Amino acid sequence: MVTETASPLATAPADLPFDAWMRQHQERAQSLIARFVPQAHPLVPSLHEAMHYAAALGGKRVRPLLVWAAGECVQADGEALDRAACAVELVHAYSLVHDDLPCMDDDVLRRGQPTTHVRFGQALALLAGDALQALAYEVLTPEDEGMAAALQARLCALLARASGAEGMAGGQTLDILATGRAIGADDLMQMHSRKTGALLKASVLMGAACGKVEAAQQPVVWAALQAYGDAVGLAFQVVDDILDVTADSATLGKTAGKDAQQNKSTYVSILGLDAAGALARRLRDQAQAALDTLPVAQRASSRRLRELADLIVLRGH
Ligand code: IPE
Ligand code: IPE
Ligand code: MG
Ligand code: MG
Ligand code: MG
Repeated sequence: MVTETASPLATAPADLPFDAWMRQHQERAQSLIARFVPQAHPLVPSLHEAMHYAAALGGKRVRPLLVWAAGECVQADGEALDRAACAVELVHAYSLVHDDLPCMDDDVLRRGQPTTHVRFGQALALLAGDALQALAYEVLTPEDEGMAAALQARLCALLARASGAEGMAGGQTLDILATGRAIGADDLMQMHSRKTGALLKASVLMGAACGKVEAAQQPVVWAALQAYGDAVGLAFQVVDDILDVTADSATLGKTAGKDAQQNKSTYVSILGLDAAGALARRLRDQAQAALDTLPVAQRASSRRLRELADLIVLRGH
């Protein structure tokens, strides 16, 4: 692992237009990935090449954006926040590599390129996913003095719980079990909240964990950001389901129409397009209403979280 410190992000002025803020932070994500996922390695070059291919090329970087936006809300910045942003994106990249495997969704296109197993073979894709997941926890536990041990543990715990059986891996299991059969709205919500929502919510909470909030205010800040993360996380997958039907492969960078082709249970298959769109907008409103319950200081710096909720939902319209 490369360990030299990246230059600190110039603090974005609060009045920066959202697009510029987003681009600046997407570039920041890119440079962190380049720092932690080197393309070449003398011992196992092919594994590193596959890891770099899966993590570094393309992607909207929504999860790191949420980490930084939540960090801004609680006056966090610096190395720990950057490492949190990078770690969650590495777990996400691993989840995509495994999601695309023939034993899962059997997809050949991801981020506008052949999927990792198409390019490198299934064994290397599986291992690259495993190694990206492990690397995420390396990133969160630097060997130097740069991050307090308690914060390292907190961030690892949040990420592990969101990725495992209670979170992403559990949700992916529910997705496989629901393929080819109709499920009810409650089961669908469980599945989507876990497979996708959990990691997005963890992004928000990891950003929040890096912050400076007075002890007395912490429960209320945490509850508000949990509610925001729940709503935005579920909305993200509802919109992903919508886009699978309404967008084309070139725009998505992945094969459109796959859910229907594979007989997946989605918000569109169960509610229809219009109701799924209405639900996504309701969830966006819920997420933004949760921000209104923040104490004054954090509410005043929650602008990027509010804008990200709009971005996540409006890209489906
Ligand atoms: C796609 O996630 C998979 C889901 C969890 C719905 P993204 O839409 O965030 O994919 P990238 O990272 O931008 O490629
Ligand atoms: C994937 O959901 C969720 C993950 C945990 C990766 P999808 O299977 O709908 O994601 P896409 O549409 O392939 O990106
Ligand atoms: Mg899937
Ligand atoms: Mg898929
Ligand atoms: Mg999808």
